[in-house]
Amino acid sequence: MITTFYMPTRIVAGAGALATVGMLARELKMTRVLVVSDPVISAQPFHADALAALAEAGMAVARFDECGIDARCSHIDAQGERVRREGIDGVVCIGGGSVMCTGKGTAIVATNHKPMRDCTGVGRFDRRALPMIMVPTTAGSGSEVSQWTIVKDEERHLKLLGGGPLSFPDAAILDAVTLRSLPMHVAALPAVDALTHGVEAYVSAIGSALTDAVALEAVRLQYRSLRASINSDDERARQDNLVASCMANVACGNARLGHGHALSLPMEGHLDLPHPIGVGVLLPQVIAFNLAVLPDKVRPLAEALEVDPAGLTRDETIAACAANIRALYADIGFPDRFTPDQVPPGRVREMAERAVPGLYAGIAAATFDHTTVGDRTVIACPSARKMTVRQAQTMLETCLA
Ligand SMILES: [Fe+2]
Repeated sequence: MITTFYMPTRIVAGAGALATVGMLARELKMTRVLVVSDPVISAQPFHADALAALAEAGMAVARFDECGIDARCSHIDAQGERVRREGIDGVVCIGGGSVMCTGKGTAIVATNHKPMRDCTGVGRFDRRALPMIMVPTTAGSGSEVSQWTIVKDEERHLKLLGGGPLSFPDAAILDAVTLRSLPMHVAALPAVDALTHGVEAYVSAIGSALTDAVALEAVRLQYRSLRASINSDDERARQDNLVASCMANVACGNARLGHGHALSLPMEGHLDLPHPIGVGVLLPQVIAFNLAVLPDKVRPLAEALEVDPAGLTRDETIAACAANIRALYADIGFPDRFTPDQVPPGRVREMAERAVPGLYAGIAAATFDHTTVGDRTVIACPSARKMTVRQAQTMLETCLA
């Protein structure tokens, strides 16, 4: 199998890194920048510091602070139009995943002159996005080093993914100062998402020694630092979380994502389930399902999840991996089941059927007729073990409260 490993984003990490944003903008030949954020982040002192650094570097600054929980096609299309109208030549995103996806989508539509909806799918646009600098304020999505943007098409109740080599961010700034204002219950959500990125990259059938090495170290660093970063003010642990989240996305950007993301996507679109809850609750099941066909990967992943495999059979080791994930969830206040409000039991089969096109189908998912699939239809997914609709249904049922 031929594999590629591509990571063109410059990563600037460490305490004080945020102060380099102006210098980076200048190096990227930006002169007028759109700073994308949300109402909470834009009120933080570090946001003001970033704006000051951009102004000091000679940037004219326009702002869009209206991002919400999801990156919305309507926001992206409007901001893309604005960028062209106002002659803006760079995008700086300061926020979590939805902020970075909104800014990335804006940078894509601004140069490609078509709506975001038509840019979803794999490589569906042919002009380089505007230069982008990403400043993540949660340790989670990894969008700062990802070519992909995940957007919500509000009209069709769909979550869609779009991107290609032309939409990698140019620079990512990882500075734990941006995590300081984050309440514990908020911080846990993206951190668990990041953990799933590392694991799903590691159990992908299209990974390589390169992606395995990065994914495994991302899981190890994330698992080791999560409790301290969420339950205390440990700045070192938070910086480790930021770096681990970034690494997980470097891995999954190349090895792609697996069953947790494929099964969560329709629940996010049709049931409004938050992304980290969807993928995080599924994670212990996803680990067990895939490790069953990856005997050589059981021990390394177990050790990354702080399981001591000595004296355990392979099946016991796999079970211990899932148990350690659940123990972590208990300690950081993350759920390990879907409530009936989140995923009504009567809609589980439908959600399993709607997962069939997979994460990377783009707008083609909009016309997919889920009623045509049967128990043995396989879900499009690069994970090591193929999963049928029936198996997906069982997995979802196991995750119900
Ligand atoms: Fe994710």
